[in-house]
Amino acid sequence: MKEAQEAIIDLQHVGKGFRAADGNARPVLQDVDLHLAPGEIVALLGPSGSGKSTLLRIIAGLIAADSGEVRYRGQPLHGPARGIAMVFQSFALFPWLTVQQNVELGLEARGVDAAERARRAAQAIALIGLAGFEGALPRELSGGMRQRVGIARALVVEPDVLLMDEAFSALDVLTGERLRDDILALWEGGSMPTQAMLIVSHNIEEAVLMADRVLVFAADPGCVRAELPITLPRPRDGDSIEVRLLVDQVYALMTAGAAGHAAHGAKRAVLAERLPEADVTRMEGLLELLAQDDFAGRADLPRLADESELTDHDLLPLTRALSLLGLARLDEGDLLLTPLGRHYVDSAHGGRQRIFGQQLLERVPLAAHIRHSLEQDPAGQLADAHFLALLRDSLDEAEAERVLHRAIEWGRYGEVFEYDFHTGMIHLPAPDVAPQG
Ligand SMILES: Nc1ncnc2c1ncn2[C@@H]1O[C@H](COP(=O)(O)OP(=O)(O)OP(=O)(O)O)[C@@H](O)[C@H]1O
Ligand SMILES: [Mg+2]
Repeated sequence: MKEAQEAIIDLQHVGKGFRAADGNARPVLQDVDLHLAPGEIVALLGPSGSGKSTLLRIIAGLIAADSGEVRYRGQPLHGPARGIAMVFQSFALFPWLTVQQNVELGLEARGVDAAERARRAAQAIALIGLAGFEGALPRELSGGMRQRVGIARALVVEPDVLLMDEAFSALDVLTGERLRDDILALWEGGSMPTQAMLIVSHNIEEAVLMADRVLVFAADPGCVRAELPITLPRPRDGDSIEVRLLVDQVYALMTAGAAGHAAHGAKRAVLAERLPEADVTRMEGLLELLAQDDFAGRADLPRLADESELTDHDLLPLTRALSLLGLARLDEGDLLLTPLGRHYVDSAHGGRQRIFGQQLLERVPLAAHIRHSLEQDPAGQLADAHFLALLRDSLDEAEAERVLHRAIEWGRYGEVFEYDFHTGMIHLPAPDVAPQG
């Protein structure tokens, strides 16, 4: 019980359900226990739809849990707490406000006077490396800089607890890594007032590089299924043996069901994520439509359905797939192009494939697992039946086949692996024979 008393954030038996289309409540979170201790960075990994964002929104006080207890510094949480700030995947900056004004917004709501607001906002902006850009408008900034503004807006309130929901995933890889390293440097350097961070990620390596503890979430309903403490000092080297071993260990936790020794069936569900039924050509078509001038990167779903001549039945899996891959995201019934999605549309075919492949490896555990298994195999190939058997542990026959074929289609497009339809063998791609560009 000691841990629970010391925790800054303490969740016990938290449950949450949402009403599904058929009118029944569907449990999204069940019996979630989680605590954050002072000085700790905790990463939460898990499949799309497992309730990670919902959990963060509960801790941020944006929505209430249906059951269980949520405590912040020992007190039950009712609504947003002063000490808790959240960074979203793609920050909704006000386009007509400058960087300085966008950051000050975080303080205005708290009744801080104008002079103090200006001083603290300038400080947060400098801290996050945007000094000199106070007067810039969001559209004048790159995606990475905009996300820095989002982080400054969270930091300006000097949060005790910082929640980050895929804060780096919509950025291109290098920008995301730089921003992540900068945050870690601030954290290590003690210039952040923040006592604890909880980060949601789809990227196992990112979690291993950042966190003191990695929690593996399983879906249907979402709950913590496994935990891995990480004691390596930061900064950590992504290429070091220690980090590679830990990444492997997290993979193993996420795939533990496959080895047949899992106590919880739900562990398997992490891998057997029900990938949406979305083909690559249609996903691309939708992204291109969204990028057109008419929409300028944002459209509501009915209009999008209209323009794309797709039914809801087809459109919904496409939007789910695009948000799973970080290329677009849903926001209050609108579909939004992420900066990475914009970059994708602006890239030539080869560039698009690279982005797609990269996102697949980072965000679709099944694809990452297939790739990883192929790399471990001396011949670099494995039968589709091998992965099918694994999926069948938690999905029925037809669904297991559907999910594997979807993963194969996506993996082939992203050049993550190849597939031979005659022999049923999945193999590593031949070293770069594809035309570049
Ligand atoms: N306001 C809401 N109303 C109804 N259902 C919701 C609502 N918010 C989330 N859900 C559902 O709850 C489930 C969990 O969603 P959540 O966004 O928390 O998952 P996630 O783990 O963050 O997924 P991702 O990795 O794709 O971001 C999903 O099935 C989602 O459709
Ligand atoms: Mg989410």
